Amino acid sequence: MFTWKPELYGRSLLRMADLTDEEMLSLIDLAVELKARRRAGVRGDLLARRQIALIFEKSSTRTRNAASVAVRDEGGAAEYLTKNDIHLGAKESVKDTARVLGRMFDGILFRGFAQKTVETLAAHAGVPVWNGLTDDFHPTQILADLMTIRECFGRLRGLKVAYVGDGRNNVANSLMMGCVKAGMRFVNCTPEALSPDPMLVREAREVGARTGATVEVVSDPVAGVAGAHVLYTDVWVSMGEEAQKETRLRLLRPYQVNMELVRATGNAGGELIFLHCLPAFHDHETAVTAASGALEVTDEVFEAPFSKVFDEAENRMHTIKALYVSALCDHAAL
Ligand code: CP
Ligand code: NVA
Repeated sequence: MFTWKPELYGRSLLRMADLTDEEMLSLIDLAVELKARRRAGVRGDLLARRQIALIFEKSSTRTRNAASVAVRDEGGAAEYLTKNDIHLGAKESVKDTARVLGRMFDGILFRGFAQKTVETLAAHAGVPVWNGLTDDFHPTQILADLMTIRECFGRLRGLKVAYVGDGRNNVANSLMMGCVKAGMRFVNCTPEALSPDPMLVREAREVGARTGATVEVVSDPVAGVAGAHVLYTDVWVSMGEEAQKETRLRLLRPYQVNMELVRATGNAGGELIFLHCLPAFHDHETAVTAASGALEVTDEVFEAPFSKVFDEAENRMHTIKALYVSALCDHAAL
């Protein structure tokens, strides 16, 4: 009844590169099926009695709630644990915490700072661990992004995705790998000072050589977005980098996604969508009051009919559910 890859049973997701191309695409298929199931009003028991620990060192609206609703929807339960609730890394090592929680929970979703932390959790928990964002990667976000693109265009292969902004953050890193696995054309439009790690670019190009995808890193956003089907941006100052605010604003002002940049795609009014992982600074009121106030996208673009950011946000839930079901569900139930 559902798309299910047995090799995903018991598996963690720490970065996009952990998935084969086929596994990644099959998770999107499963998420589409689970979305249709929920839309049809079915709240089943695919995750009955499954217990998920949600460890959050950083704040979250989408990931936390998606991760929590996804398991409850299918009969399981989630426990939200901030760093003030548990001893993680303070009074107790990450390794010991992993070994304790792994004895009680069926899976752990982690959001925090160091990639090393989520890797240590996965190495020692003995249950699947999912990366809900670290300083380096945000893989669960990218599953939702690809699902949204596929919903809009009916395909992924060959489409051009232009990411514009902080080219070296968690979202940019994971989006690049997700796009090349799907055979897409990925362009990272970013100032040289914020270029992605050359090792990650090399790794993505190696995948692209196999899938037919391409990766470009360019500093001119107007040239970079030409022919784009997807315009994607993220905040200019990621969580934990607040001290960089002034430099980022100076570097990234020319990279704002506005109607002029939309027109530079040559696809305005045609085959173009705008995506943003959210939260976004798109109106002046939030931007001036928030600590890291910036305006990476104008209100006009954010609120335009081609902006699919809320579909994208909803799809966080369906894709995280697909991860849980693949990793935890007894396949006889599917
Ligand atoms: N996109 C995303 O991860 O949002 P949250 O920070 O609200 O979880
Ligand atoms: N790059 C952003 C993503 C938020 C979902 C951050 O890390 O704050």
